[in-house]
Amino acid sequence: MKLRYFVIVVVVIILIVLFLLGKRVDVRTNKHVAELDEELQEILYLGSLAPNSHNIQSWKIEIYPGENYLTICLDESRRLKVVDPKDRELYISLGCYVETLIKSFSAYGYETKYEICQDENYVRLEYSKTSGVIDKELISIITKRHTDKRAFDRSVGISEKEYSYIDENNRGIYFFSVGDNKFDLIKSETLEAYTEQAYNKEVAAELSSWLRFSDKEALDQKDGLPAEQLGISGIKKMLYYLSTNHESAQGESFAKQGITTTKNQLDGCTGFVIVNSVDSAKELILCGMKTVDLWLDLTKDSISVQPMSYAIECVEYRETLEKELGIANIQMILRVGYTADYGKNAAIRRDLADYISVK
Ligand SMILES: Cc1cc2nc3c(=O)[nH]c(=O)nc-3n(C[C@H](O)[C@H](O)[C@H](O)COP(=O)(O)O)c2cc1C
Repeated sequence: MKLRYFVIVVVVIILIVLFLLGKRVDVRTNKHVAELDEELQEILYLGSLAPNSHNIQSWKIEIYPGENYLTICLDESRRLKVVDPKDRELYISLGCYVETLIKSFSAYGYETKYEICQDENYVRLEYSKTSGVIDKELISIITKRHTDKRAFDRSVGISEKEYSYIDENNRGIYFFSVGDNKFDLIKSETLEAYTEQAYNKEVAAELSSWLRFSDKEALDQKDGLPAEQLGISGIKKMLYYLSTNHESAQGESFAKQGITTTKNQLDGCTGFVIVNSVDSAKELILCGMKTVDLWLDLTKDSISVQPMSYAIECVEYRETLEKELGIANIQMILRVGYTADYGKNAAIRRDLADYISVK
């Protein structure tokens, strides 16, 4: 009897320890940039909460506060050479950053004017303060938006009202609802492409280099995909960190687990949004901008989003989808749906001074 009591106490203590160790990491991004006023620091931090492929945060900023403008360009040292050899996602991510930053300026009472410049390799953004009113609602929407990798509620579909602003084909945004044959096709092509990538050694090695396997690694790097970015929390997070590392993440059992997770994600959704645009750098930046514009509208309505790029990253799957759906140059596939609670952005973001220089 005494032994049984002892075992129960030990198990409970272990569970409590695992739970405490598994609590959400707070990377406490340092917003300080010498010679920049606090409001600009806040705006630049808010802008950095933009969605971006693998959370690589591949942007570099030069800011000229005396002249009220900044430039945003790619940090090519952060490229995803294997899954994104033509920098398609890099430019889309840059566009996501630009649009989030524009919205952040607007929330703090600034007007902005952007220009995609010189071989389309950087964006110039002018800003001027025109109002003292701070739009707290917009700030909370930008802060709330995040990628949700959980399965969504299959019993609640996207309503007519939301459908009307999502499905604006004239600006290259298309919606496919569960029950439609085309929805099934997007689902099956995505799973097949993911499966092919999961067993590809080069793809696995690249992904593994951006996965983080401890709070320490997340705190040191402040980028990439720690458990929080994968939607793993609490005891599951601790077990994940205890059982996985950069080497095992390139192995077969990790691949199998990823396929199961992806299948659950695809089963748990009620719609796909497709965004298309021409493949040039400029159009890809614009594509990222319109994606964020839509994503923030969806966030306002508490519709959860997960981009699923696997089928676009594999030429043959992308071609099949483009042909069967009759949509040229598919750039983003977003899995959308509702969850009981919208959840929070993990806010794994680098210190501003790491990529912002003041001129
Ligand atoms: C161009 C692009 C492609 C992406 N592809 C995927 C993807 O295939 N699978 C996925 O789970 N998330 C994908 N994401 C989401 C990013 O992983 C996510 O934005 C990033 O980790 C930052 O997290 P947050 O959106 O929660 O702020 C993509 C995002 C962008 C902008």
